Amino acid sequence: MRKLAVVVLAAGQSTRMRSKLVKVLHPIAGRPMIEYVLDAVESLEAGKAYLVVGKDAEQVRSALGDRVIYVEQGQQLGTGHALLQARPLLEGQAETVLSIYGDNPLIAASTLRRLVQVHEETNATVTLLTVLSEESLGFGRIVRDSNRRINAIVEEVMTSPEERQIRELNAGVYCLSDRWLWPHLAGLPLGPKGEYFLTDLVEAASREGETIASLAVEDISEVLGINNRVHLAQAERVVRERVRHEMMLSGVTLMDPATIYVDSTVKIGPDTVIYPNCYILGETTIGSDCSIGPNCQIVDSELGNGCRIVASVVEEATLAEAVHVGPFAHLRPGSRLAAGVHVGNFAEVKMSTLGPGTKVHHVSYLGDAKVGADVNIGAGTVTCNFDGERKHPTVIEDGAFIGSDTMLVAPVRVGRRARTGAGSVVTRDIPEGKTAYGVPARVREK
Ligand code: UD1
Ligand code: CA
Repeated sequence: MRKLAVVVLAAGQSTRMRSKLVKVLHPIAGRPMIEYVLDAVESLEAGKAYLVVGKDAEQVRSALGDRVIYVEQGQQLGTGHALLQARPLLEGQAETVLSIYGDNPLIAASTLRRLVQVHEETNATVTLLTVLSEESLGFGRIVRDSNRRINAIVEEVMTSPEERQIRELNAGVYCLSDRWLWPHLAGLPLGPKGEYFLTDLVEAASREGETIASLAVEDISEVLGINNRVHLAQAERVVRERVRHEMMLSGVTLMDPATIYVDSTVKIGPDTVIYPNCYILGETTIGSDCSIGPNCQIVDSELGNGCRIVASVVEEATLAEAVHVGPFAHLRPGSRLAAGVHVGNFAEVKMSTLGPGTKVHHVSYLGDAKVGADVNIGAGTVTCNFDGERKHPTVIEDGAFIGSDTMLVAPVRVGRRARTGAGSVVTRDIPEGKTAYGVPARVREK
């Protein structure tokens, strides 16, 4: 028999979120809230967690894959009923069952470890995590007798006026002894709203004289249960604060941290400076010695060391070392910029490769282009890549010089060190070293 098994309850209807998306998949700082719970739970090394899922099981499955063992709760008949669904898989498998709600993303792994420790040391039948809070949070109240022994958990909707005043609240994490849990869970009374409350187990244990232990968590934010979007925003604030804190300790300078939004999935190297009002999101990696901002949005991108990005949007792009972007540039998905590339004022790049040292300083559009090294793209250059039906490629080879306001009508190729005159409309390939000019552009033959 194992020592510990963990069940995470996530089958609730999430009515209070008012969302198509199942509650536990709502992102917090870029990751689904359930992943934070699973991270904490997995640190207990109790094997794969059992995740109780409901009507939206498919959404959860496609997000988490085989990270957990799924247990289906066909009808949402309350938290007690939810845990009971794990009985056929779990009874007799582990001495202690730790049950936690999937909407409790901020719980610290160390708190879970301490709870298990208290449970083992006190030899208790039930061990609860509680929290002392001046705010009620809508949580169940911990009712103790005159000897401070826990008698019951009373849900807020069921409290008497005196019970309502109780400041010790149920955080919703329980260690339960396997031998006692399952038969009692099956015998829970049906609540007034047709639900079986997991919390009613505590009264049953008290009635039977079983030992009920508790651990009080100090940091209230750890037990924030996300029931609606106000709670979601609170959790978001806490996680973002943690991410920024870690980032600064690891050597990144954040100017005015509260204005910098960094997802928990982002990695940034030391001595990078982030100026105010930046959004750095998704699977983004930024090297060291970079200068980012002010006013940038960088999503799912990879930036090498020494890059400088000012007031620009960078999406699904890859930048090598010392690339300068902005102000007011837009790098769209599939942009690959080699070392030393400059993309400046009002330039847009999409699905294009720019070789080392290439410069696109002003008001240009490069789409579906392969641009070599040390190319100069003059102001107003456009790759006319779309004929209304299909996209076509443009190739500009090393050392080419594209004059201002050149239209490159794709598919087209500009050879090595070839040049275009200002205002050219290039409809045919330009051979190496040649200059083309005019509308439509003709190659100068001398
Ligand atoms: C619950 C506790 C409350 C505690 C609070 C802490 C009960 C009855 N109440 O209240 O004492 O203070 O958490 O955050 O347990 N779920 C299912 N199936 C169901 C119903 C719920 O899997 O049929 C899951 C939900 O997806 C959710 C979790 O259980 O993740 C808790 O349910 P929720 O409705 O959020 O309970 P609270 O009202 O927050
Ligand atoms: Ca909740």
